[in-house]
Amino acid sequence: MGAAMSRPAPKSFHVKSFGCQMNVYDGARMAELLEGQGMSAAESADEADLIVLNTCHIREKAAEKVYSDIGRIVKKAEGDKPMIAVAGCVAQAEGAEIPRRAPAVDIVVGPQAYHNLPRLVAEAAEGKRALDTDMPAASKFDALPKRRRQGPTAFLTVQEGCDKFCTYCVVPYTRGAEISRPWAAIVDEAKALVDAGAREITLLGQNVNAWAGEDGAGRPQGLDGLIRALDALPGLARLRYTTSHPNDMSDGLIAAHGEVAKLMPFLHLPVQAGSDRILKAMNRSHDAASYLELIDRVRAVRPDIAISGDFIVGFPGETEAEFEETLTIIRAVNHAQAFSFKYSPRPGTPAATMDGQIAAAVMDERLQRLQALLNEQQHGFNLATVGRRCDVLIERDGKKPGQRIGKSPWLQSVIVENGPAIGELVTVDIVAAGPNSLNGVVVAEQKAA
Ligand code: SAH
Ligand code: SF4
Ligand code: F3S
Repeated sequence: MGAAMSRPAPKSFHVKSFGCQMNVYDGARMAELLEGQGMSAAESADEADLIVLNTCHIREKAAEKVYSDIGRIVKKAEGDKPMIAVAGCVAQAEGAEIPRRAPAVDIVVGPQAYHNLPRLVAEAAEGKRALDTDMPAASKFDALPKRRRQGPTAFLTVQEGCDKFCTYCVVPYTRGAEISRPWAAIVDEAKALVDAGAREITLLGQNVNAWAGEDGAGRPQGLDGLIRALDALPGLARLRYTTSHPNDMSDGLIAAHGEVAKLMPFLHLPVQAGSDRILKAMNRSHDAASYLELIDRVRAVRPDIAISGDFIVGFPGETEAEFEETLTIIRAVNHAQAFSFKYSPRPGTPAATMDGQIAAAVMDERLQRLQALLNEQQHGFNLATVGRRCDVLIERDGKKPGQRIGKSPWLQSVIVENGPAIGELVTVDIVAAGPNSLNGVVVAEQKAA
């Protein structure tokens, strides 16, 4: 494939990640890997010799983005175009089809093969077209370099893949079967992240609460055991995890929300829809009642917990009445935040060929109604925080001089004036709330962070 013209090895790179947090994590690991090869991170894509597009295949729009991006890169490049690598879930799903459609692409690398990126870059420099979408049994994690400098918050992938096969979803095909990283590897990486400056770690997995393994003493453990072990890490202030599946919400994990000090009161637990018939057609294996019961049990141990979710409108065959059942479950749960999407048929998934595909206009109208309700709930949740005193982990500068932005325990963005340093955990009085953020005043007398 391709013209066998050799080219200089790239000296600088730029990684652009789309999609979920796991892609953000993978993007950071690819950057570390390329830096380990002596390449430097370019300020922007325009200045990079190598551009890595770390793609998402979850919905049609997300998948098409890669091709418009490639078009833009080629158009912008004066003279020699940069080396282009397509990584992530589109790479896994479309493989060799990508360079056929976009000949400017030099490298295609799947989410389980990116530890081979240095070899693929070398092959591309020799003028070959390099492709690796293997899903090897050997863990890519072992082949990755040690974690480097971190901001105050870090992602840590502990689990990958999905065995749930919801009928609309590509993830089981792009990320493969569920695997759990070993206990010791996770604890070591968490320590390295804390040593490198992280104060908050978010444990990641497509089904993070399906994590299973053995601790150092050989005892079987679930995600709750892992969370309890990480709670003991000195220097770490906060723990979060995402994304969870209702079926894997164990008693132990629920209990942890009432007991583990560093575990933040936030739970992203997608229900997708409120109609039992639709949930069944989605192959979700929970129903509306069992989901609500789960939420009750979590709230019983942690009454202030912020609940987040994902929703799909317009799944094939969804009637107006069934859609309204989604509104009903949203009202019953009362969310702190949520993501919602129009159903997007994905090639190769069972739902794509089901009868009763819903017209775009109907989906638009349903999504608007659903989002209006979710926005109202989010604003209501934010307003209910006004008057509370809470810890805020300062993450970045705000727009105005002296302003800083951090996160509340419930994952709301909090803007504070006369900024404490980035990375500080400060006590803040929440004084105002908008739909998307809170305003806080740093309490003068601080406890030791
Ligand atoms: N593993 C997670 C997240 C998967 S992807 C989970 O099971 O919750 C994130 C969200 O994208 C899903 O929760 C779902 O709401 C949405 N999604 C997945 N496939 C989709 C599709 N074909 N069309 C529209 N939304 C989709
Ligand atoms: Fe996709 Fe369902 Fe797996 Fe989530 S649980 S990744 S929605 S198949
Ligand atoms: Fe997208 Fe792949 Fe994540 S399809 S949502 S990048 S697992």
